[in-house]
Amino acid sequence: MVATTQNMVFFFMFTTTLLLANGDSQVPCYFIFGDSLMDNGNNNRLHTQAKVNFPPYGIDFPDGPTGRFSNGRNTADVIAQLLGFDKFIPPFATATRKEIVTGVNYAYGGGGIKDETAQHLGARISMDKQIKNHRITILRLSYLIGTGSIVETKQYLKKCIYTVGMGNNDYISNYFVPKYYNTSSVYTPGQYAEALVEQYSSQLQDLYQSGARMFGIFAAGYSGCTPGMMSEFGVTSCVDSVNSAVKLFNTRLNTTLNDLNNKLLDAKFILIGTSLDYPNDINVTDTPCCQSASTSSKGQCVRNQVPCSNRQNYYFWDAFHPTEKISVVAGTKAYEALSPFYAANAIALSKDKEARYISEA
Ligand SMILES: *[C@@H]1O[C@H](CO)[C@@H](O)[C@H](O)[C@H]1NC(C)=O
Ligand SMILES: *[C@@H]1O[C@H](CO)[C@@H](O)[C@H](O)[C@H]1NC(C)=O
Ligand SMILES: *[C@@H]1O[C@H](CO)[C@@H](O)[C@H](O)[C@H]1NC(C)=O
Repeated sequence: MVATTQNMVFFFMFTTTLLLANGDSQVPCYFIFGDSLMDNGNNNRLHTQAKVNFPPYGIDFPDGPTGRFSNGRNTADVIAQLLGFDKFIPPFATATRKEIVTGVNYAYGGGGIKDETAQHLGARISMDKQIKNHRITILRLSYLIGTGSIVETKQYLKKCIYTVGMGNNDYISNYFVPKYYNTSSVYTPGQYAEALVEQYSSQLQDLYQSGARMFGIFAAGYSGCTPGMMSEFGVTSCVDSVNSAVKLFNTRLNTTLNDLNNKLLDAKFILIGTSLDYPNDINVTDTPCCQSASTSSKGQCVRNQVPCSNRQNYYFWDAFHPTEKISVVAGTKAYEALSPFYAANAIALSKDKEARYISEA
């Protein structure tokens, strides 16, 4: 009894300090790199077909269609909320001068590890370009939190969480589109995974050089089970060839992240696994909630179409992207995986938030 009270007092003091130090969030800043699974509006001004700032996208989002490839929040939004940020991390394309202090979202629909990935859809911002955009942010930050000192700014960036989710498009919008890309004739799936992860590894080390230390890296999704891929292959169950190629990528990524952890001792790379487990109440896993245009393989919802009403029961929102409900599950898992990056004593605090956000979903 006494011990419990002491713990509670300690907990109270700890969280109070934390609140004073960082506002409401468990880390001061969160940077997001990725593709359409994380994009929150960067694509809107880009000349690309991979763009979704129209209804019914955002039907469950307070601001309506924002460019998120979802009916509501995406995984990065959920992580930001669980970390305690009171606003979503702003997209690079529109972030205001001061907003960048709490982080920036660089993710672009169509973005890949390889520059040419998704070029058949139009303009895109690959991982290399997202890293360049981050350098612009660092320069801006250096004048916001210091007097233009990059050294000082790097001290700040060490306290920020970075999540990176890349590789999906290098399969969906490259390797498995032989009409536009020759990668599948140049590389076996194993060689391709090796080449991709090698390039990815040097990109992550670039971020390390720029000051990043806390990395959450998303494994690629098993896109063979997306309705979009199944219809491209003309099958009604998961496309094994796609999933096994993705699996090779994920295995190699895991090994490489272990290597990076052994090499860069003051950094930590956490692999955030993906799974195809469905929550119990999800009973529609092979059909998207909204109807896709039959004239294209992009798998996006037809503009202004009325989507399914029981979105709680659907895994897929459109032919390639999950519903908000699935993003809440994925975001919560990711947040838990990232726990070594935030104070252990703050977990109880966040559990409250977690419960709140889950019930909102
Ligand atoms: C594959 O395409 C690239 C350009 O995208 C080209 O440089 C390369 O020569 C091609 N390789 C083969 C074997 O066709
Ligand atoms: C990554 O590799 C480690 C061992 O090297 C293993 O314990 C872990 O399960 C692997 N993670 C994934 C997601 O495959
Ligand atoms: C999924 O479950 C909901 C309610 O639990 C039910 O109304 C709906 O008919 C089910 N859909 C399918 C395809 O089984």
